[in-house]
Amino acid sequence: MSRTIVTLPGDGIGKIVLNESLKLLKEAGFEANYTHGDIGWEFWCKEGNALPERTIKLLEEHKIGLFGAITSKPKDAAAKELDPKLSEKGFVYFSPIVGLRQHFNLDVCIRPCKSFKGNPLNYIRHDAKGGFEEPLVDAVVFRQNTEGLYAGVEWTDPPKVVRDALETHPKMKKFKDVPSEEMALSTRIVSVNGCTRIIKAAFEYAKKFGYKNVTVCEKPNVLRETSGMMYRIAKEVAKDYPVIELWDTNIDAQMMWLTKNPEVYGVLVAENMFGDIISDGFAGLVGGLGFACSANIGDEVAVFEPTHGSAPKYEKLNPSIVNPMAMFLSACMMLDHIGEQNIATKIRNAIAKVVEEGKVRSYDMMKLRGGADAVNKGAATTQQITDEVIKNL
Ligand code: NAI
Ligand code: MG
Repeated sequence: MSRTIVTLPGDGIGKIVLNESLKLLKEAGFEANYTHGDIGWEFWCKEGNALPERTIKLLEEHKIGLFGAITSKPKDAAAKELDPKLSEKGFVYFSPIVGLRQHFNLDVCIRPCKSFKGNPLNYIRHDAKGGFEEPLVDAVVFRQNTEGLYAGVEWTDPPKVVRDALETHPKMKKFKDVPSEEMALSTRIVSVNGCTRIIKAAFEYAKKFGYKNVTVCEKPNVLRETSGMMYRIAKEVAKDYPVIELWDTNIDAQMMWLTKNPEVYGVLVAENMFGDIISDGFAGLVGGLGFACSANIGDEVAVFEPTHGSAPKYEKLNPSIVNPMAMFLSACMMLDHIGEQNIATKIRNAIAKVVEEGKVRSYDMMKLRGGADAVNKGAATTQQITDEVIKNL
């Protein structure tokens, strides 16, 4: 069967790390056709759309996207860089990755945070005897990707109908003297369907990969309605998975416990913003942006991407010094998703060996300041890292 993957390099270092991952996939024995999808800043400037319709069509057809990273800029900066020929046509910049998630309802975001032995960026803590311990973290965050606080239903100076509707809530009394034009409002809307899908996906993953617990990380004691709904549904769904324990933590306490006992957590599940927060928290324990991978999965389409952005300050460095591991691990998630676990395991094992041996390390792993002189100080180039992983396949 011939399979086609849509490659979406995007901007800046997205182009670099994606290209490296294609070399690695090939050397690891993964066979596929690749078709390029335009996405990112260049297409905003030239066409007034960072996510052109032809790219959507490609994903509709081929279903699987491997994505680098894009550059986003605030509204005013975006308007300034738009081709002057388009400036009067009413184009408004919109982030293409958010656009993809919404267009294809990629509502299940998976962010595994797993430490590799020997990574100098791993979290270390004191033990009770005055020594050190390095807990090996293996947490997988399931973040609801389309609803909640990031759904975009928000206003500054809410229109009168919205204000009037809000006034029906008794708790609005404390805002009664605040003029609407001095008010900003971001909603947190979740649905039974959205909550059920993300929680089921979390339990299914725990079952498939042998995790012993699923933690709902919310704040139901305060966010009684939305977090309350997540927790209620989790208790319902958990009944179908008797060997997996359901735990619940509050987001704030979870951030505190992150450094206390991160190794006890398996799968975690949360609303959009909370999932964003805990996944960054866990990622910080296992190497940060150079290692943080993710998947955005919908019923039809799935897009795999490192969590980092386009890191414009490193875009033009030649040779490139950015760490391609996050992109490699995202490609592994793609392989898992399409049933190529064997190749994914082969790549992950090679990465583990390279990290543990420590002969070839990116500037971030060496805790160096990024820049042209990082290589002189012993940091490997992006390409050397790829070559070393390939050598260890
Ligand atoms: P960023 O993730 O691009 O970079 C932040 C810093 O993290 C970099 O300066 C660098 O020190 C480090 N870093 C990132 N990736 C690395 C890698 N592979 N290896 C080693 N170090 C790495 O985030 P920033 O600077 O906030 O945003 C830059 C641009 O990227 C913005 O336009 C932003 O909107 C966009 N962005 C895009 C994302 C996406 O495409 N999904 C996600 C986050 C930001
Ligand atoms: Mg984030």
